[in-house]
Formats: sequence, structure tokens, C-alpha cells
Amino acid sequence: MNVTEAARTRMSCRAFLDTPVPEETVREILDAARWAPSGGNLQPWHVHVLTGEPLKELLDSISPRFNTLPLAEGAEYQVYPAPLTPPYTGRRFKCGADLYASIGIPREDRPGRYRQFARNFEFFGAPVGIFISIDRLMGPPQWSDVGMFAQNIMLLARDHGLHTCAQEAWTFWHKTLTAYLELPENMMLFCGIALGHADTEHPINNWRTERAELDEFAVLRGF
Ligand SMILES: Cc1cc2nc3c(=O)[nH]c(=O)nc-3n(C[C@H](O)[C@H](O)[C@H](O)COP(=O)(O)O)c2cc1C
Repeated sequence: MNVTEAARTRMSCRAFLDTPVPEETVREILDAARWAPSGGNLQPWHVHVLTGEPLKELLDSISPRFNTLPLAEGAEYQVYPAPLTPPYTGRRFKCGADLYASIGIPREDRPGRYRQFARNFEFFGAPVGIFISIDRLMGPPQWSDVGMFAQNIMLLARDHGLHTCAQEAWTFWHKTLTAYLELPENMMLFCGIALGHADTEHPINNWRTERAELDEFAVLRGF
């Protein structure tokens, strides 16, 4: 698969098959992802990968507490600016509306939406859960480096016929995760990435988000 194909076919997969992903595949993905660029070559990413029993143990420790959603343990960082302004508000609203519509959850069905939100904390059924953390002393440039690293993982997953979903939602369980992953105090969890084989039959994987046209976000001169 070439890079264009990987970028075009990557999407946030929210229903996975339970087909396992071999350790060798995960290692190959991470081994290539580490060649992501970073300012000053700081390589500010730190990764924990769980599957099998350790993943089950973590998810089982969280699921009895789903009734505390959406706040759970409270986000450790602000996921979206408040207040969000146009055009971002409209994009966020449409993405959420289309997602819930794809699985027949009407906007007013709050318990239904919470149930779907809770699927985040089952990694949407993925057999592999990746957690990415960053040293608290790092600032926006290094967070952007970590984003590039995460995108490498997601594109490389495509090259292995796999799909992913980046998940900031995991910040809502940051206390549990810090303890479970034994993160030192200086480390902050950024996100999770679900990794596995897509359930291509599931309606939640059968809609696509939209993008602004190129001329809406890019200015090209001198061509
Ligand atoms: C850093 C990051 C965090 C995200 N967190 C979540 C999340 O917690 N739960 C979720 O369902 N989707 C999450 N997403 C997926 C976005 O909603 C998705 O990328 C966006 O709507 C565009 O859709 P696409 O990925 O299918 O192209 C996240 C994406 C990124 C890049």
C-alpha cells in the first residue's frame, strides 16, 4: 500500500473483530513509527501496548464504573477549547450527529449516546490497545511531534491491513491508567489508539467524515 492509499483509507474504526494482532506486527508498526520527525529529535513519545489478559484486566476494572460517565475521573487536559467557535463547532456537531445516526441513536437519546461513548473504554472491541503518554514538561511543539508519531502508527496499521481509532477519551480515566500503566508522576497520558481488524459489516464503520476543500484551508502562491 502506498502512502496516499494509506492516508485515504485510514478512518476512525469504532467496531473491531476479535482477531488477534501478533506481537510481531505491533513491533513492526512501532519500529517504523519511531522514524517520525520531532523538533530537535526529542522523540517525546512513550508507548504502552496491551493485549490479552492485561488489556482485559484493565477494561474489566473500568466497566463497572461506566455509570460515572461522561465525567468519569475528569479529563486531565482540555480536549476542546471552550468555547469552540465556527467553523469548528459545526464540524464537531456534524461528526457527532453522523456517528450516532449511523447506529440509529437519535440526538435526544442521551443514555444511548453514553452507551456508545462507553465503547471507547472497551477499545471498540479491538484486540490491541495502545496508550501514548508525554512528559509534562513538554509543550505544544512536542505534543505536535507526538501527533505525527501517532499518525505514523495509524498509517502503518493500514499497510498491515489493520485499522485504528485515536482516542482522547481515555484522558477521562487518567487516574486509573496512570496507576495501571505505572506512569511516573512526570508523565501525562495523551491518548489511546485502538488497533485491530475492522468489522466492515458494522454500520458505525460505514459512514465517513467530511473535509473542508483544499482552497478553504490552503493558500498557494507562485505556481
Ligand atoms: C488525537 C485524536 C483523538 C481522538 N479521540 C477520539 C475519541 O476519544 N473517540 C472517538 O470515537 N474518536 C476519536 N477521534 C477520532 C476523530 O473523531 C476523527 O479522527 C475525526 O472525526 C475524523 O474522522 P476520521 O478519523 O474517520 O477520518 C480522535 C482523533 C484524534 C486525531
